[in-house]
Amino acid sequence: MAHMAAPEIPDIDSALMPTLGGRYYTDPGIFVSEQEQIFESMWFCAARSSDLAAPGAFKKVTVGRESVLIVRGRDGGLRAFLNICRHRGAMLCTEDSGQVRRNFQCPYHAWTYGLDGRLVAAPNMAALKDAAGRDLDRQEYGLVSVALREWLGYAWVCLADTPPSFENEVVGAVTERLGDASVIDRYEIGSLEVGRRITYDVAANWKLIIENFMECYHCATIHPELTEVLPEFADGLAAQYFVGHGAAFGDDVDGFTVDGGAGFDALPGVTEAEDRKYYAITVRPQIFINLVPDHVIFHRMYPLSADRTIVECDWLYSRNVTESGRDVSRSVELFHRVNQQDFDACERTQPTMSSKAYRNGGVLVPSEHHIGEFHGWLLDKLAEGAR
Ligand code: FES
Ligand code: FE
Repeated sequence: MAHMAAPEIPDIDSALMPTLGGRYYTDPGIFVSEQEQIFESMWFCAARSSDLAAPGAFKKVTVGRESVLIVRGRDGGLRAFLNICRHRGAMLCTEDSGQVRRNFQCPYHAWTYGLDGRLVAAPNMAALKDAAGRDLDRQEYGLVSVALREWLGYAWVCLADTPPSFENEVVGAVTERLGDASVIDRYEIGSLEVGRRITYDVAANWKLIIENFMECYHCATIHPELTEVLPEFADGLAAQYFVGHGAAFGDDVDGFTVDGGAGFDALPGVTEAEDRKYYAITVRPQIFINLVPDHVIFHRMYPLSADRTIVECDWLYSRNVTESGRDVSRSVELFHRVNQQDFDACERTQPTMSSKAYRNGGVLVPSEHHIGEFHGWLLDKLAEGAR
């Protein structure tokens, strides 16, 4: 296979850089700080909007330490609420996802909430008065709202009392990585359909998964199929090392599939410059997006504890492909193998994070130096909480 020259490394600093110490991956107290300062404070990608198609469709998602209920309303809009009954605090909805006809009823004393979160009924409600002797205000005793934004066909929620700007934090991060605001729009991710979804239960800290995704020093060792399709990855430089850089397919590769065979027609907006290219984007704190000409791979992490993370991965295709019933398994198989190879590596690393050999951490080689920037960001977030 022809070997494409990788772009030159802009950072000529060949010094090793330190990593975080092992306790950052194992300490439950640090994980709680991350839940507070990161997952409960930033925009968190919670669900594919099309999974909640009809009024009454719902999904329960754990965000930081909170349970959040995302619901499609009668007016067609998506809303998010804290999944907790305002009476005596029982978890309102205990199923992971499903469909209700018109409301949610608490399984404890049967307080009932509409799809818009308002309290619609309670046993003997007519006889209930608030502390000032008035009838209960259905809004005031309704479910607590959570901020929600939709973008790229996904629903993001934010638990902060004053959410940060979605445009800066999420849209800006994608644009900065791609170097051009129009690139992401051209893939029309919101209108693509889920051709396949695989959920991985990974016994590793969420940061090991991010760090792995950010670097490609491991590609030659553990990703034989990926480096066949993207030969420059054999040199260990992730596409993410360079702003706006797409990794080129090998000369004899026809598509982003497990054997390099042809995939599907390029998405309509993909330009010649983006054709035969692979782009990888990390959106903090828990999203990875891969763009290839004929599909998009969209990962969401749901960190559950210091050593356990659920990763949900969607393979998104144009409606032409999904409606034609064409077989997507060869393109799914490529990144599914990459995921398994990566998560195996993370799971091998997690148990040894508590070794005294890693008390002060390890080192980053030059092609991993951008991970140091992630560590700096993390330490800043944790310091904000300590202030
Ligand atoms: Fe929900 Fe009592 S706790 S109705
Ligand atoms: Fe990898």
